[in-house]
Amino acid sequence: MACFSHSSFSVIHFLLLLLLPTITLAEIRSTELRSDSRSTIPFDEFGFTHSGRLNLTVTEISFSKPQPDLSRLGFYLCTLDSWAQLAEQLQDGDIQCPLQSQHIKPVFKFDQNPSIPKNFDVSVKVSDANLFTLLFSNCVPDLEVSMNVHYVMYNFNPKTGLLDYLSAGKTSLPIIYFLFFLVYLALGAFWAYTLYRNRLTVYKIHFFMLSVVVLKALNLLCEAEDKSYINRTGSAHGWDVLFYVFSFLKGITLFTLIVLIGTGWSFLKPYLQDKEKKVLMIVIPLQVVSNVAQVAIDETGPFGHDSNTWKKVFLLVDILCCCAVLFPIIWSIKNLREAAKMDGKAAVNLMKLTLFRQYYIIVISYIYFTRVVVHGLEIITSYKFQWTGPVAAELATLAFYVFTGYNFRPKVHNPYFAIDDEEEEAAAEALKLEDEFEL
Ligand SMILES: *[C@@H]1O[C@H](CO)[C@@H](O)[C@H](O)[C@H]1NC(C)=O
Ligand SMILES: *[C@@H]1O[C@H](CO)[C@@H](O)[C@H](O)[C@H]1NC(C)=O
Repeated sequence: MACFSHSSFSVIHFLLLLLLPTITLAEIRSTELRSDSRSTIPFDEFGFTHSGRLNLTVTEISFSKPQPDLSRLGFYLCTLDSWAQLAEQLQDGDIQCPLQSQHIKPVFKFDQNPSIPKNFDVSVKVSDANLFTLLFSNCVPDLEVSMNVHYVMYNFNPKTGLLDYLSAGKTSLPIIYFLFFLVYLALGAFWAYTLYRNRLTVYKIHFFMLSVVVLKALNLLCEAEDKSYINRTGSAHGWDVLFYVFSFLKGITLFTLIVLIGTGWSFLKPYLQDKEKKVLMIVIPLQVVSNVAQVAIDETGPFGHDSNTWKKVFLLVDILCCCAVLFPIIWSIKNLREAAKMDGKAAVNLMKLTLFRQYYIIVISYIYFTRVVVHGLEIITSYKFQWTGPVAAELATLAFYVFTGYNFRPKVHNPYFAIDDEEEEAAAEALKLEDEFEL
């Protein structure tokens, strides 16, 4: 294991170097456009309450043509529904440019002023509570636009008299993450106590499990503080670095733990086979890539420049990791089945076999739930309930941790525990039956 901890240390350094230039951005974002000829550019989306506001500052505007038709250039806010209506209008030929539609909420039209603007500053009140996307449209053919766009979106919170920089529906995330942090803290304390009580039968992997729980708790604490800081100030300020560091450590340790348990390390055998080490060698670097992709997606916003590429990278790497961790479990199940046939202790082997099968199913369900169901939930729920996705994911994760801890807990060896002949025969029978059906 020594070689793994060494390589993950240098990996953190590498990750930190990657992170540092980008950490200043958060809900207050800046984007630079350089010779961009896209006809519609989405920037960011935000859930407004009845007292929302958007401040937009654009500087260093320049065009590739001297006198473009300024009425065909502008910034606006648009909801998903109004975008559908607008698309219909465009398709029917009723309008030629999104800026002509009555369904949008204009923010700035470039023909507002008589001369071509170089810089401008606008502040728009939003009083219809909804999820809006900030967009820019350029309906002049072949016109390339360059500019620096800086924007802030927030809601005034009448209860506190303060500004909330987190989108409506996400403002409860800090408290939710903090509550989960407390749960994991309790879980960690309970696990440490369990290890202490069973210190004679504890394996190395049980201490590893403790570190996974502690890292998860720290990750949640940083996420809570990060989100709360964004809610208060609009930027993440340092907490996000800690959050990413702990996310990264948590991701690596969790996947390593699943692989180690899957191989039966500590439980079935004290060493790892070469092919099992190879799985770890694949999963750990993939986790690094996945974390870098996650950071890139978060920092550039949902419509950032390369965010689509990063999303694809993240999805691919995530799928590869999830598949890779299943192999050791499958190998263990195969080995246990063979062992059950070979030696006389059919009942003990059958028990282990059942446990590993259960674990296999739980790992698949956990992966499926956190990747597919949670994503679906985020898509179908209204923006006001955007916290339900993260809550469902955290609950599933908690259930997974509890299941893993419970099933692979240190067990007290009972010298008087003996399997009687009847049980042994029943187990042998069960294995034989299973053989016939090749289940
Ligand atoms: C947004 O603009 C308004 C009006 O110019 C100003 O009063 C307010 O302080 C600005 N808000 C932020 C967060 O910059
Ligand atoms: C942040 O979100 C919480 C939860 O809704 C809210 O109570 C708080 O006032 C918000 N704003 C700030 C500035 O903390």
